[in-house]
Amino acid sequence: MSLSERFEADGYLKIEGFVEHSACDRLQEHVIKGVESFVASGHNTRSIFSTINQEHRSDEYFLTSGDKIRYFFEEEAFDEEGNLTAEPDRAINKIGHAMHDLDPEFNLFSRTSDLAELASQLGLSEWVLLQSMLIFKQPRIGGEVSWHTDHTFLWTEPASVVGFWFALEDATLENGCLWALPGQHRLAPKSRFRRSGPGVTTEVFDETPFDDTGAVALEVPKGALIVLHGLLPHYSSANRSDHSRMAYTVHAIDPTAQYPADNWLQRRELPMRSFSG
Ligand code: FE2
Repeated sequence: MSLSERFEADGYLKIEGFVEHSACDRLQEHVIKGVESFVASGHNTRSIFSTINQEHRSDEYFLTSGDKIRYFFEEEAFDEEGNLTAEPDRAINKIGHAMHDLDPEFNLFSRTSDLAELASQLGLSEWVLLQSMLIFKQPRIGGEVSWHTDHTFLWTEPASVVGFWFALEDATLENGCLWALPGQHRLAPKSRFRRSGPGVTTEVFDETPFDDTGAVALEVPKGALIVLHGLLPHYSSANRSDHSRMAYTVHAIDPTAQYPADNWLQRRELPMRSFSG
């Protein structure tokens, strides 16, 4: 079975050793420096991200981050005065959503010849990079991300989004690796997350929960790439281990698909580019 046939059949691909460890280390070091200088600059760090309580929903900082580099911190990382109670590199939850276009190091990591070649094998050479995220999944406090499909959040007509998930560290059962439901990318979308008034809302088309009886754990070593079909349900559990589970993701869409004006992520004056730049 070819790579693209496997992707079509399962809705995901797991490719170990896709990225050199040295490239993972370099990105991690760059990220930590960025977090530290962000905190040192005295910016308001009190914007948090949790898919469980959805407090960020009306948060302007989140909703205008589509064409910027923004830092989101853990809920538990602040005292009552809003001061960080942990080291910045242990308090950060994620960075998003346009590093791949605005930061040269991220651009370099996101647009390699290997990625362009893989995209072409999957018939995605024309696809453009919509968003990037650095997900920290901190030791002990890294939260669960409940079952969802990325199409819910990055909707196009027709559905086109594909996620590229890079393990910058080993992802294991203990530190909250991804889980997926093979084949369920063929089912209709159950919900759509979109802008509504000053905030956002989730429009639900099908209230039945995902059937996770066939769930597979995608444990991968550092340097692995997991490609996720936009309609494939996936999940990751909380990290209760002593090890972080840092991952970097980019999401690509078909530039000829319609991109709704009420998607949460909007890019005003930042053109989208493909894996080959
Ligand atoms: Fe996702």
